[in-house]
Amino acid sequence: MQQKRRPLVVVTRRLPDAIETRMRELFDARLNLEDRPMQPADLVEAVKSADVLVPTVTDEIDASVVAEAGPNLKLIANFGNGFDNIDVPAALARGITVTNTPGVLTADTADMTMALILAVSRRLAEGVRIIPEDDWRGWSPTFMLGHRITGKRLGIVGMGRIGQALARRAKAFGLSIHYHNRRHVAPKIEAELEATYWDSLDQMLARMDIVSVNCPHTPATYHLLSARRLKLMKPEAIIVNTARGEIIDETVLARLIEAGDLAGAGLDVFEHEPAVNPRLIKLARQGKVVLLPHLGSNTHEGRVDMGEKVIVNIRAFMDGHKPPDRVLPSML
Ligand code: 8YV
Repeated sequence: MQQKRRPLVVVTRRLPDAIETRMRELFDARLNLEDRPMQPADLVEAVKSADVLVPTVTDEIDASVVAEAGPNLKLIANFGNGFDNIDVPAALARGITVTNTPGVLTADTADMTMALILAVSRRLAEGVRIIPEDDWRGWSPTFMLGHRITGKRLGIVGMGRIGQALARRAKAFGLSIHYHNRRHVAPKIEAELEATYWDSLDQMLARMDIVSVNCPHTPATYHLLSARRLKLMKPEAIIVNTARGEIIDETVLARLIEAGDLAGAGLDVFEHEPAVNPRLIKLARQGKVVLLPHLGSNTHEGRVDMGEKVIVNIRAFMDGHKPPDRVLPSML
């Protein structure tokens, strides 16, 4: 019997050893052992020859890259939950299936969001510098006071898997849960979280002590937190973002914090990664914002789970089935 040709799977970045090993066993896997981010020309080269492309958030698979796809490319199996790095309509129009890795990074991302809420409110980033920099002169009742989070109102923008996981954690910390979403979550979940639904994002923003961005980045959510909306927030409020930088107008956010019209921010994602707005960096040095280098989902366990999902999606597709994590037009 003729052996089936193993699919050529081009993986754009280094993945955990266990995943790369398994990919080698299953596929004709072209790995990036040096982990050098691919340039547009490398991506074009990859889509020309591959049967399957496995990109990450650092690879921009825009319409011009998709247009170069060779006849074999039938699947883009994104290593990541967010898929705003891929021009999905362009891919679908060429008959290329796109998958992502939802579900497995929910808890890790929600944990990191909670960590940022605490870090900003309780001045963690400033605090950890004091002793190593030999700046501690001893305890005093008024030294470096932060703000209590218990009893505060948290407004979650985007109540999907991660938004709900954050709500569960925040509720345990004694925050009251508010959310804005395209639709209500199931009544059972709303009741469990004692969550208040706001159909008006503007109305919610104006009343919250803490706002967390947890929606996907789509054309509809680009600068959802625009200058006008950010200005609706209370001056003592803080904002955290573990979703995508593009959802907040970052320049205006920095300006409002500089002016004291917003108390602070905790950001894990940025509009032009890996570049970070110098005004935000200055604010971080002043202790007004906490900046993390896109660490939301970066646990060993999470990365392996994401890799497993990528493999399952590829295998299902290659076996002629619908892969479990297809990105559908309704998700765009
Ligand atoms: C990932 C993420 O690390 O999955 C996502 O959407 O934002 C990150 O947590 C990254 O995207 C992997 O490509």
